[in-house]
Amino acid sequence: MNRRKIVAGNWKMNKSLSEALELARDIDAYAGEGPLSGVTKIVFPPSPFLHEISKVFRNGTVLVGAQNCHTHESGAYTGEVSAAMLSSVGCKYVLVGHSERRQYFNETSEQLLQKMQQALHHGLKPVYCVGETLDERKSGRHFEVVKQQLTEVLGQFKLADMQEVIVAYEPVWAIGTGETATSAQAQEMHAYIRTVLAGMFNKETADGLHVLYGGSCNAQNARELFACADVDGGLIGGASLKADDFRQIMASF
Ligand code: PGA
Repeated sequence: MNRRKIVAGNWKMNKSLSEALELARDIDAYAGEGPLSGVTKIVFPPSPFLHEISKVFRNGTVLVGAQNCHTHESGAYTGEVSAAMLSSVGCKYVLVGHSERRQYFNETSEQLLQKMQQALHHGLKPVYCVGETLDERKSGRHFEVVKQQLTEVLGQFKLADMQEVIVAYEPVWAIGTGETATSAQAQEMHAYIRTVLAGMFNKETADGLHVLYGGSCNAQNARELFACADVDGGLIGGASLKADDFRQIMASF
């Protein structure tokens, strides 16, 4: 199965507009380089910067995504941003179900499902994030937890929708902690995610699905993680805030 290599940077709630633009211009300056040409590059800047950042990447070598979208189409939801708005400012992707959203904003599977539906309806490719906490891994429930996250949300979609969906496996205990999953742990879970998807849809869909690893992935460990058969790339937090580190991660395939 010929899957693309993908490296995505989740900038989270970091940087001023001028700093974000500087990072974007630095990335744009190397994004077209030959050795990186086989890598799909995506950045997820904070929402107030999306329009300006999209303009920096207007030649399309780097694609832009949002870190979140609202569950509803439009209306009286003060402070929220709709999928349609994101699409209108040049976004092609949106993160759904990042563990920080699940944890700090109590996002439920029901809401994540609505966000995914909004995203797909407005032509955004959702990057659906799954992953277990440290307690869940220690108690041996990590497969069960990830399976539930997959079935409750992705299980509601039609086969055709799955072409547009990317899954990111991000063990919560590895996010921002400096403690990354071993390549064996990542491979094991990524293979498991495909097994679950094969059961929900079919083997072809599972084999074609892009599954990214996230959680303290950096320029030092990316090569080993990306070498795993079922790891199609990374969703990078901290290390995506430095243009050089991000480039090295992209060059790790
Ligand atoms: P990290 O974050 O690389 O800083 O661990 C990853 C993420 O939350 O997407």
